[in-house]
Amino acid sequence: MSLADLCESLRNCQQCRLASGRTQVVFGSGNPEASIMFVGEAPGFHEDKQGVPFVGAAGKLLTELLESVGLSRSQIYIANVIKCRPPGNRDPAPDEVETCKPFLLQQIQLIKPHLVCSMGNFATQTLLERKVGITKVHGQPFELADFRLFPLFHPAAALHNDHLLPQLREDFQKLRQLVEAMAAPHQEAAGSATAQPVQMDLF
Ligand code: URA
Repeated sequence: MSLADLCESLRNCQQCRLASGRTQVVFGSGNPEASIMFVGEAPGFHEDKQGVPFVGAAGKLLTELLESVGLSRSQIYIANVIKCRPPGNRDPAPDEVETCKPFLLQQIQLIKPHLVCSMGNFATQTLLERKVGITKVHGQPFELADFRLFPLFHPAAALHNDHLLPQLREDFQKLRQLVEAMAAPHQEAAGSATAQPVQMDLF
């Protein structure tokens, strides 16, 4: 199955109660061959209307943070744990996470990113399969079976808590280093004898 097939198969998903309140399923956006994937919690008002993840205020901050480390949205892939907006932006219920998680795992299997940045508690706990707080694990990479997980504070949390924004910016600088380290072997493979600036567009 391709990513487009998976997206099509979910277009009219009725597997949980969120189907009744959504405008549309918000599957994901970006480069389907990306080496870096970002995973948030669930669509909000604007995402539900536009069908694209992270297009509201948190999305604007995410775009700015990506650009601050030389990444554009077209280089990465962005998805959420939950594909349909919970009413009033409430937290996803445990059974909604269980129902939707296999679709996120399928997306990851099809995109095959080397690095997955989980934003906030829901994405981090879902992918780590551990109930661990984001305050404790943000900015630390975890080697999982198929990819490296890099937990980050959720951009929406940083918009609501001033003290989190500097930490989120700092974690993006760590992310830049991880990305550069990922790019380095490609440079050697390309036979570069002298030190070259890292080509972020290798991703
Ligand atoms: N917050 C999320 O977790 N996902 C979005 O798509 C938008 C806001």
